[in-house]
Amino acid sequence: MALTGNGRTADHAIDRQFLDRWSPRAFGAEAIPDETLMSIFEAARWAPSCFNAQPWRFVYARRDTAHWPTLFNLLIPGNQLWAQNASVLAVAVSKTILEIPGGDPVPAHSHSYDSGAAWMSLALQAHKLGWAAHGMMGFDVEKARVDLHVPDHHRVEAALAIGRPAPADTLPEKLAAREIPSGRNPLADMILEGGFPKS
Ligand SMILES: Cc1cc2nc3c(=O)[nH]c(=O)nc-3n(C[C@H](O)[C@H](O)[C@H](O)COP(=O)(O)O)c2cc1C
Repeated sequence: MALTGNGRTADHAIDRQFLDRWSPRAFGAEAIPDETLMSIFEAARWAPSCFNAQPWRFVYARRDTAHWPTLFNLLIPGNQLWAQNASVLAVAVSKTILEIPGGDPVPAHSHSYDSGAAWMSLALQAHKLGWAAHGMMGFDVEKARVDLHVPDHHRVEAALAIGRPAPADTLPEKLAAREIPSGRNPLADMILEGGFPKS
């Protein structure tokens, strides 16, 4: 059964949180309560991962702290334009090796997949609490590695902003016009029963 919400339509029955969560750019620049931020990260903590290795790490900064400029200066200007009003900036990093007790470290094939699951849990929890998380690839990955002291065997995955959603008209005009929840490609483009077509 189709479900409509947030200007979006799901073709099959799903929980409405999956339509309601989205990535706004208009944020209200308020301080986030400690408990709220920890709840958001706690949701990430409970994501599934290969061998339960939990390879995700979130390096974060709250606005109006000494750490904020370090993370803010990683962002491309187009993201700084709106992320300046976020309450938290973070960079998601994942550990690329698995250390299984009694064995040598081995490459962790699914570290990015696992960290992606953690990010989505975080984003859904933020939404549930009346906040929003917005992922970003528009940042300097190499600078992040250096400025955030990312250790060896860790991959910088993505950046994210967490903030309190604000009205679209608080954004510069060009961004305000894009402040609409996006659609998706057809489900049939994403699922393949039995395999990809033989070429
Ligand atoms: C890994 C990742 C990187 C992204 N990079 C950016 C970015 O640099 N700037 C931006 O404004 N949005 C960025 N986005 C937001 C996406 O454009 C957005 O998630 C996508 O259009 C789907 O929309 P929705 O999250 O509102 O459902 C990013 C999202 C993800 C998950």
